Amino acid sequence: MNNLSPPMRSLEARYYTDAAIYKAELLGVLAQTWQFAGHASQLNKPGDYFCFDIAGESLFCIKTKENEIKGFYNVCQHRAHQLLKGDGNTALLVCPYHAWSYELSGQLRSGPNIKSVPGFDKQSICLTEIRIEIFCGFLFANLDPLAKPMAEWYPNVAEELSAFVPDLERLEPIEWVEVPEHCNWKVSVENYSECYHCQLNHPTFANGIVKAKTYDIQPQGYCLRHTTECQNLDKMSYPIDVNANEFAGHYSSWFLWPMMSFQVYPGNILNTYHWRPVDHENVILYRGWFGTSDSDKSTLHELAVQDRETTVAEDIQLVESVQRGLNSRGYVPGPLVVDPKCGVSSEHSIKVLQGWIRESVNV
Ligand code: FES
Ligand SMILES: [Fe+2]
Repeated sequence: MNNLSPPMRSLEARYYTDAAIYKAELLGVLAQTWQFAGHASQLNKPGDYFCFDIAGESLFCIKTKENEIKGFYNVCQHRAHQLLKGDGNTALLVCPYHAWSYELSGQLRSGPNIKSVPGFDKQSICLTEIRIEIFCGFLFANLDPLAKPMAEWYPNVAEELSAFVPDLERLEPIEWVEVPEHCNWKVSVENYSECYHCQLNHPTFANGIVKAKTYDIQPQGYCLRHTTECQNLDKMSYPIDVNANEFAGHYSSWFLWPMMSFQVYPGNILNTYHWRPVDHENVILYRGWFGTSDSDKSTLHELAVQDRETTVAEDIQLVESVQRGLNSRGYVPGPLVVDPKCGVSSEHSIKVLQGWIRESVNV
């Protein structure tokens, strides 16, 4: 008799097509996980700030007078007007509605005529703070005050990334590429998290940098770590001194569940993926390219353009077709191709990822 359990099937389509599930995610997984907010180099001096959105909330990061980086909900504690827009520098946070002003620490400082109110306790009013972690120079936010630190979610990632990118603490963003995709954010994240489709769909990637046959993806806490051997690095489109340091000739990436990934290309070139869902059927993917003040900016620009025109463009076609298919009445979720030996032609990483999706979406 055959004792084998049937192969695990991909998630039901409703996880990707149902607006009610997305609404539950806004309160659940998107509000209770570590998400990319920005880069520490965006906040150089006290009063520097930038706004961003996570889980449907407007938020901002700011550097205080004590040179500490804090994060807050972008909402006035008087009658809820939004405080800040975009980015900039300010000595005080002044609400545009009735001009209540807050210190950079979030504490209410003054407001027109508030002294006339008997018993008004200024000290008790402060902007609502959120958790911010500085992770390898990147700022991550979590709306869950009880969230475990990133080192517990993503074990060893900071150490590994520091080894792969010796200049990590001196980096700054050089190029940003914004990529709207008509699909649920999880379709795009799943597509990123397997290379079963690479050989057929990504000729530049699969025959350029990496030896696709050696590609593998393994969980590391709530991280999916991508590893591969590289092709002959003499044939790369930019010069690489493989002897510059231990990992100068390597490629690797670290996807941090649910919506951020660090990738390191040969030559210790760091680039990132992060996703911002718009609604249940739209997501914006951002590609970030990082370097130091002495990096060759034209190489980074060329890499960003080539990546946008090849791998990214190819993936847009795939994920948008999948989203249309998930809306089809003819779709029955198929078995995942989980090879016990793992490797590039296996979807074991999708099994792990869909396990995290299932545990985070209890509807
Ligand atoms: S809502 Fe901000 S001062 Fe009134
Ligand atoms: Fe892809």
